[in-house]
Amino acid sequence: MLTRTMLLQLANSKTMESLVRGNRWSAQLARRFVAGESLEEVTEPVRRLNAQGLAVSLDFLGESVTNEQEVAVVVDTYLRLFQHIRTQHLNANVSLKLTSLGLDIGDDLCYRNMLRLLSAAEPDLFVRIDMESSAYTQRTLDMFYRLWEGPEPHKNVGVVIQSYLYRSADDIEKLIAAGARVRLCKGAYKEPPSVAYPNKADVDANYLRLMQQLLLRGNYPGIATHDPKIIAATKQFAREHNIAPDRFEFQMLYGIRRDLQIQLVKEGYRMRVYTPFGTHWYPYMMRRLAERPANLWFALKNLFRA
Ligand code: FDA
Repeated sequence: MLTRTMLLQLANSKTMESLVRGNRWSAQLARRFVAGESLEEVTEPVRRLNAQGLAVSLDFLGESVTNEQEVAVVVDTYLRLFQHIRTQHLNANVSLKLTSLGLDIGDDLCYRNMLRLLSAAEPDLFVRIDMESSAYTQRTLDMFYRLWEGPEPHKNVGVVIQSYLYRSADDIEKLIAAGARVRLCKGAYKEPPSVAYPNKADVDANYLRLMQQLLLRGNYPGIATHDPKIIAATKQFAREHNIAPDRFEFQMLYGIRRDLQIQLVKEGYRMRVYTPFGTHWYPYMMRRLAERPANLWFALKNLFRA
């Protein structure tokens, strides 16, 4: 628990980021979780996943961007990504973070960028808005609804809900009523006990409740977890309630539990692999290390061996 807290705190440290990013060995470690640095580099990994029956969601790494020029680069990269997916015939949709699209600069800038991206993604590409820390939950949902039912509505967009937040059951009810597509995950940020369950057992129990809400009444939910118990419970719940395997999809992260990803496809379930790329991999990698500190010890052992 202490290691998790420490790693999540370090994930926000710019000094640590500049130290770690310049290090060849850390860049190698990041490659376990990140498919490549450029758009071109991810083509082959995505093709390999697709060939195994796995769909993909491509994410251009970046968050907390507070400079308008950098935001413009992110928008441009997503526009090129849409074209790349189409011309290369990849079985992929797209994930993005609102703080990489200007949310920290202003809601209107972020909204305009999202409208531009959603229009360009239509008619064939779906765009998932990742959920960031609880400081952004309400603003992310507000942005989602503005895009979903605002003056220029778009339906090729979905959102993410985290089971560690107390508020999530209510948020899911509203999203179900709106007909929105939800990805359910446990939540990856350091949150205070005033907003999130501090105990993992409660986070897992809440996940099970929310999964049932979504499977029964949701619109093609994404069950995003590597937790074998939750996956087994999802399969059982779907069977018991005659919910066909094509009414939802499992989702996992690139490089994590590849065995389970393939096994689920072989069993006839849909599986989508969240596949990040880009050079801003530091906070993403730190969150992955925090989820399983054993990754860190494994990495350190290899460092001292090298
Ligand atoms: P849990 O952490 O209990 O892990 C269950 C098992 O999975 C572990 O015992 C281990 O075997 C394996 N495992 C999990 N993480 C691992 C790792 N890093 N390395 C190696 N093995 C690991 N979060 C968020 O806040 N906002 C978001 O938008 C998203 N989006 C998202 C998309 C997708 C497709 C996934 C799968 C996850 C996210 N997440 C996320 C991250 C999520 O909140 C959560 O932190 C991780 O998925 C880990 O939680 P699990 O559900 O896997 O369970």
